[in-house]
Amino acid sequence: MSNQPETFPFQPDAVDVLLREHESLRRLIQEAMPPSPSASELERVAFDAEQPQRLEALRTEIEAHLSAEERVLYPYLLQFDDFRTLITRAHEEHRNARSALQNLLEENLSFERMKKSLLALQSVISQHILFEERDIFPVFRKRVARTDREGLALQLIQARKSLKKAA
Ligand SMILES: [Fe+2]
Ligand SMILES: [Fe+2]
Repeated sequence: MSNQPETFPFQPDAVDVLLREHESLRRLIQEAMPPSPSASELERVAFDAEQPQRLEALRTEIEAHLSAEERVLYPYLLQFDDFRTLITRAHEEHRNARSALQNLLEENLSFERMKKSLLALQSVISQHILFEERDIFPVFRKRVARTDREGLALQLIQARKSLKKAA
């Protein structure tokens, strides 16, 4: 499937891979939003029946994405002194994202509480994505040669595969 995070019609660099994953995280969060209180009983029941799979997909994707960055990209960037503060902040934001995810995964949340938790997660994740896309990726692309960035893309894809298998 062409929208799979690991499939590209061209040779991706690490940023292409991560941008694709960011897109898919945004979409999965959006898809997990419960229907409004005015939705019909049928819609609510149908949503409820499939919500466990949606939340599981979201959990796996978030964990695979954060962990692959922590294993591959962030350690690589730490060889550059001026990335140090940015990476500290990135780790902190990953911690916040994981704790927002934990809140969402609590058992038996009402639609209302689920929506609140999803909005909180959405806010933490979108801010973090924005931070990476604005403050980290452009400098990384300028600083690191294309072939090295392509090598890191393969490592990210590999790390993600092994993390998803283990999840
Ligand atoms: Fe990140
Ligand atoms: Fe990211």
